[in-house]
Order: sequence, then structure tokens, then C-alpha cells
Amino acid sequence: MKLILVSGARPNFMKIAPLIRAIKKHNETDNKKIEYILVHTGQHYDYKLSEIFFKELEIPPPDIYLGIGSGTHAEQTGKVMIEFEKILLNEKPDIVVVVGDVNSTLAASLATVKLHIKVAHIEAGLRSFDKKMPEEINRLLTDAISDYLFTPSLDANENLSREGIPQEKIFYVGDIMIDNLFFNLPKAKNSKILEKLNLIKQNYALLTLHRPSNVDDKDKLESIIEVLVRVSNKIKIVFPIHPRTHKNIINFGLNHILTSDNIILIEPLGYIDFLNLIINSKLVITDSGGIQEETTVLGIPCLTLRDTTERPITIETGTNTLIGNNPKKLIEEIEKIMKGKARKANYPELWDGKTAERIIQILISRN
Ligand code: UD1
Repeated sequence: MKLILVSGARPNFMKIAPLIRAIKKHNETDNKKIEYILVHTGQHYDYKLSEIFFKELEIPPPDIYLGIGSGTHAEQTGKVMIEFEKILLNEKPDIVVVVGDVNSTLAASLATVKLHIKVAHIEAGLRSFDKKMPEEINRLLTDAISDYLFTPSLDANENLSREGIPQEKIFYVGDIMIDNLFFNLPKAKNSKILEKLNLIKQNYALLTLHRPSNVDDKDKLESIIEVLVRVSNKIKIVFPIHPRTHKNIINFGLNHILTSDNIILIEPLGYIDFLNLIINSKLVITDSGGIQEETTVLGIPCLTLRDTTERPITIETGTNTLIGNNPKKLIEEIEKIMKGKARKANYPELWDGKTAERIIQILISRN
């Protein structure tokens, strides 16, 4: 069986790493070997958004790098399609495996299905029901054309069934990102990032912010920063800043309001240091998708600066609370957490570190 594994942007790498480990393990013990080619589209290209993850997560260097880079949605999607199609024609894989919901995910799937090659989508079925999020379009369309839909939670199965996806294509396998989290936890616990940043355990909030809906509009970004400066009077904030957000802060001339001594601005971090910062934080404030899941598993309170989430299970059974654009609620929730009144969490079934192995078993048994 020959696979092409596609990755392109930061949140993809932690989903590809466990898959490669599971393929290697399979090949050591089973005669039916899996051949794979790793393609990096180059949607993310900065060292701190890309190469550092390959190093830390011990992902082999990509076999093929497409070097797509930044651009509008159509440019990025179109360029990946054009370049990826050439790879497909050369390599003739049996299945293309895509992960998550970034532009590279959709572009690779679309090029693949038009050549009548099967697509396997890992993290299928998640829905925010907000079509203004580019990721929601990527999710809907990728799922509509995939042959294997590997879901992280049962709400995803329900979404897919509602959209008319046949049951035999849907496989509830759990959350592959959690495989990676468990695998790297011992290393993360040894990270020296706390000393490096002069932080005390449980004494800071960790912040990430990069959604276009939060950072691409000047007024919205300004109001978020103003609230965060207020929050920093209550608790120190550590803010590894995404390049999109950084550029917008500069372009909108908002540096002058981001001046609190209690906000520690740093460059984006690698996986291991970032995980350590989550584990030791009092709480996390974010608009990311994956971090809602990681905090749920680690039992760390997560306050999400969005109106919707495609990961409702992190609210139902996890530690996640949707804050939207409501400064009063943010401050109230932080006060609750600081008084020791954070919600306790159970993490979902099948978030057990074995998702990648289940996926490989399913693919091998059907091909
Ligand atoms: C992308 C994904 C988003 C994911 C995020 C994680 C889509 C539609 N969005 O958003 O789902 O949560 O990755 O980071 O696929 N840039 C750099 N260096 C890089 C890459 C980007 O400086 O290596 C800057 C560029 O100015 C670029 C901007 O960031 O224009 C946005 O990059 P892009 O890949 O379009 O989307 P993200 O915001 O990173």
C-alpha cells in the first residue's frame, strides 16, 4: 500500500508525527508493508512555524517540498493543487492522507479526488457552523470528497451523517493530536522554558491569538488587546505571537497599547516548550482549535476567544469555555479560576494515544 501524507501548516505537523510512528511500527511487525511519501506544501515556511516541529517531533524531512508560501486563499489553494497534482501523477499513490482543516488540506484533497485516487481525512466531521471561518469551508469540502473519514469525537460522526456521508466511510478513531501529546509529555516536562522566561508555575496565563476574525480587523484587535492589558493587572500573560498577529499589530499601529510589563511577548514556540507552558499555566486564553483539546486532556482551564467551536466536546466534558468577544465574561471567568473554582474535566473516550494505530489498521485492512 502506498500513501502520500500531506502536511502544510503548523497544526498539521503534530497530527502527521504519530501517523509516521504508527506506519514504522506496522512495518516492523507486518509483512504487508506500507510505503509512504511525506509532502510538505510549504504553506508555513518560517523556522518557528515549520522546521522546528520536524526536529522536535522527529518527523523525517519531507520527501517533497512544494514551497507554496503565503497568499490569498485562492492563490494558496490553487498553487497547492497545481503542484500536488504533478506529484500524484508521478507517484500514483493508493491513498492520500490529509489532516486538519488548513488550505493545504482542501487543496491536496481536491487534486487527489479528481484523479480518482482515494482520500483519507484525519480529524473529519468537526463543524463550527460558521462559514466565515476559512477552516469551516475546508472541513466541509474535504469531508464531502473523502473516502475515509476518521473522526476524533462522536459529534463529528453526527455531523457527517447529517450531511449524508455514508456510514461505511466514517470511522471514529479518537483524536490523533492526543497521541502526540502523550508521546511528548515526558520531554515537555523537562523543558527549561519556565526558567528561561523567569516564570513561576501556576502564576501566569498563556495566550495565543491568530484567527483572522480576531486579528485582521483593527478595531477588533485593538479591543482584544485593551482587554488583555486589563487582564494582565490580575495575572501575568505569556504571549507567543503568531506572525499574522504580529504583522497586524505593527501595521495597525497598535504597539503602543501593548505595553503592560505583565505581558511577556515572545516569538512562536516549538511544541515541547509550548506544551510545558500549558502544563504549568494557571489558565490558557486562546482562539486556536487544537489548544482547546490539549487543555482538556491536561485539565487546564481554557478560555476561548471565539463565538463558536468546532470542538464542542471540549466544552461538554472538558475545560473549555467560550468567551466570544465579551470582556466582562473573560474577567469573571479568570477570577473564578484564580479563586480555585475551575471546572473539572473528563476527557473523551478514545483520546488514549492509540488513534494513529487504529487509522493504520483500518487502512491496511481495506486495501
Ligand atoms: C493557518 C490556517 C489556520 C491555522 C494556522 C496556524 C488556513 C486557512 N489557516 O493560518 O487554520 O490555525 O495556520 O498557524 O489554512 N506567515 C509567516 N510565516 C509563515 C507562514 C505565514 O510570517 O511561515 C504570515 C504571513 O504573513 C501570512 C500569514 O502569516 O500571510 C498567514 O498565513 P496563512 O498560512 O495564510 O494562515 P495562518 O493565519 O497561519
